[in-house]
Amino acid sequence: MTEFSGRVEEISISGIREVFEAAGADAINLGLGQPDFPTPEHAKRAAIDAIESGASDAYTSNKGTLALREAISAKHDRDNGFSVDPEHLIATAGGSEALHVALEAHVDPGQEVVYPDPGFVSYEALTLLAGGTPRPVGLRDDLTMDPAAVEAAITDDTAVFVVNSPSNPTGAVQSEADMREFARIADDHDVLCLTDEVYERLVFDGEHHSPMRYAETDNVVVVNACSKTYSMTGWRLGWVAASERRVERMLRVHQYVQACASAPAQFAAEAALSGPQDVVEEMRSAFEERRDVLLDGLDDMGLDTPTPQGAFYAMPRVPEGWTQAVIDEGVVVVPGEAFGEHGAGYARISYAAGVETLKEAIEGMRRATDAVR
Ligand SMILES: Cc1ncc(COP(=O)(O)O)c(C=O)c1O
Repeated sequence: MTEFSGRVEEISISGIREVFEAAGADAINLGLGQPDFPTPEHAKRAAIDAIESGASDAYTSNKGTLALREAISAKHDRDNGFSVDPEHLIATAGGSEALHVALEAHVDPGQEVVYPDPGFVSYEALTLLAGGTPRPVGLRDDLTMDPAAVEAAITDDTAVFVVNSPSNPTGAVQSEADMREFARIADDHDVLCLTDEVYERLVFDGEHHSPMRYAETDNVVVVNACSKTYSMTGWRLGWVAASERRVERMLRVHQYVQACASAPAQFAAEAALSGPQDVVEEMRSAFEERRDVLLDGLDDMGLDTPTPQGAFYAMPRVPEGWTQAVIDEGVVVVPGEAFGEHGAGYARISYAAGVETLKEAIEGMRRATDAVR
């Protein structure tokens, strides 16, 4: 008898945490994957009111409160050009749980999951936990994922392919044409397109398009969350949107691993989604300004950085030894390898930090660049 499951022995704690722990306490941390803004007041107030009135004392429906699901449904109508019945939504403990229930419900042991490399660390780990086989695909030069590469990676064993736009770690935004292709691939090959849209409101150039709009079958599951859009990473509130039969299967998993999303967080999320949206635009434009400061700095150093069009990450191509040299200068960035084999030769820089901090960090990066050249 073994002590631990083979599945859990196959995964390890994300490389990102290791970088934080190695950096000194006074380092400038550009390794973070969360906005540095406060949660909007009206969202906090809604949770406080729910706690004080006792409205959030008990379990909610497994799918989440109807009022929250109506707010999510209205949000998809307003922002994303597709309609989803409130019954076809499950509120989850962040986008993380949403990805987990989607993969658990759709992947059998031995089946394959195709996802971008470099890509968000959970895709590989959650595939392994579901007993699936990871099939990372490399990216185009501009760090978007090529639908043709996804189609070429699909075999009879493929259950799911993951699309993530805007992307963590690259900041790349897929074009509408690409998203239409992903929808077609899901339809034609009868595989599930799992589209991770948690950065969807943080786009600087172009627009976000969801494959959900274009698919003719129900082979698309949307994952989204309040985490990045409303600076609510600590609240743990996300969701899945899908067809009735898919929601029914994902609910079986969600019911046993989570029962329901945290009730106070559901009240906060409902207020965030249905309240004033100017806070989102304020954060988006602050990130855009920071992106431009960072890109100018990287460009000055002679580093080649595919222009990130969304999220709050940049991924320059860096010389050998650069990431360590930057960390030695007291600036935490994450080595590209933390996001997959094809991330080698890149570093992820998060610009969820104020402009003055970024400028200071750029000076550290400049010294590091000079040192390794
Ligand atoms: C691409 C992507 N998807 C999902 C998540 C999970 O977000 P949450 O905090 O809502 O679980 C993250 C968090 O960093 C992410 O970057």
